[in-house]
Parts: sequence; C-alpha cells; structure tokens
Amino acid sequence: MSVQSAIRRRTAPEIRARKNAEPIVMLTSYHAHTAALVDRHCDVILVGDSLGNVMHGFETTLPVTLDMMILQGRAVMRGSQHALVVVDMPFGSYEASREQAFHSAARILKETHCGAVKLEGGTRMAETIAFLVERGIPVMGHIGLTPQSINTLGSFRAQGRDEAGWAPIENDARAVAQAGAFSVVVEAVAEPLARKITHEIDIPTIGIGASAACDGQVLVLEDMLGLSPRTAKFVRRYGNLAPMIESAIESFASDVRSRAFPGPEHVYGMNPKG
Ligand code: KIV
Repeated sequence: MSVQSAIRRRTAPEIRARKNAEPIVMLTSYHAHTAALVDRHCDVILVGDSLGNVMHGFETTLPVTLDMMILQGRAVMRGSQHALVVVDMPFGSYEASREQAFHSAARILKETHCGAVKLEGGTRMAETIAFLVERGIPVMGHIGLTPQSINTLGSFRAQGRDEAGWAPIENDARAVAQAGAFSVVVEAVAEPLARKITHEIDIPTIGIGASAACDGQVLVLEDMLGLSPRTAKFVRRYGNLAPMIESAIESFASDVRSRAFPGPEHVYGMNPKG
C-alpha cells in the first residue's frame, strides 16, 4: 500500500455534512509536533494567522504573510494524518480581487497539500468565496469579530451585543453559506445571535466566543494550554503549561551552572580498543 493511500484525511464535504450532528472539534496548530497531538483528537486543524500573535509576538495578525502561512501549513501537514487541515489566508492576500484570492489560495493548496482555506468577511467576501468554490477550493468563512479588520473595527470587542446590530452579522452568515462555504467560524458574537445564526444557516457554524449551540468549537491551542500571557474571556484553560515549562528551564539552567548536567549517562565514552 502506498503512503498516500494509507493516509485517510477528513474532507471539507465530510465537515459540511456535520450540520446538526456530532460537534466538530477544531484547534489551531502551527507546528509538526503539536499537529501530531491535535490530530489524534480533532476533526479539523486550523493553521490560523493567529500564529502572528502566538509565534511571532505581533500585536495584530496584519503583518502575517502568505509565505509564513505556507511554511507552517507544510509543517502541520507533515505532523498530521487524519484531520482536515485548513490554512488561513492572511491579510492582503485575497481582498483586492477574486483573482488575487484564487492565486493565493491555489498557492496554499499546491504548496501545503492542505484541504481547505479560511478567509475573513461575510457579505463583502461572498463573491470571492463563490469564485474559489466554483474553481475547486473549499472555503471556511469567518464572521463576527474578524481580527484582520482591527483598524476599522477599532477594538477586539464582541459583536452583536445590541439587537440593533444583528442584521449585518446575520446577513454575513447567510451570504457565506449561500456562496458555498463548507462551514463558518463565528467569533466573539453575542450568544443569542450565534445560536440564531446556527439555526438559520445550513452549513456548520464553528464557534469561538459564540454559543454552545454552534455545530463545533475552536480555540487557539496555546491559549487553552495556558501558554499565552493574555487571553480573551471565551478561552477555557485546559492546562497551565507556562509554569511547567519555566520550571523545567529553571532546573536546566541551575544544573548547567552547577555542572550537574550532563550526567555520565548523557556523554559518550571511547570505543573499546582492538
Ligand atoms: O487565526 C486563528 O487562529 C483563527 C481562530 C481564532 C478561529 O482564526
């Protein structure tokens, strides 16, 4: 059996078919080693442009480039075998035109071999989503709080907390679904609105700071592991790795300074003579 036929990954149509069914489990990963761990338990791995914040320490996701996304997308594909890998389209790689979006998305698929792309925006991106889908590129939408629009939004605050502001967000959800997206991330949207949208549209909603009624949930891996210094209200911490890592580093530093490391078991002796 070839290596290719041994690897059976989830597909975008399979995720699309999970509407009103078993909840979709999605986490981010940017590296081969975390991808291997996430892959054992999740349906979808998102190579999010949050890597700009998490890996590179940028304040926003705006500086993230297509090359950065492709590099980490390739690492995640090497580390995983079963999950659908979705790679984010970074700011500036798709908004100018449908053609620009196609060229960027095609590069992502060709160079990473991932199964889908994600892009931010509802009504304003519907035409682009349809263009990509018609040309064989599965698209995950992303509505509500769209971090790439931070400079027009003004802050990272939750959306739709006043009912008067619901209509544009509902329109975004409908537009993304009608355009052919196979699922949509709903980020930081008031719970009753996220619930309503989930009931209204026929593609799976994947919530982050949205509603338990969504068809799936996503978190940034480093946030839920307790590695991120600051996290949003919607993050539940499932681990507290930062102090564990720091304590290991402290022990290493102390052992090196006291010459307790390396021990005799960590060094190479000479080959026996003759
Ligand atoms: O970039 C990212 O990690 C995301 C998730 C927060 C959904 O888009």
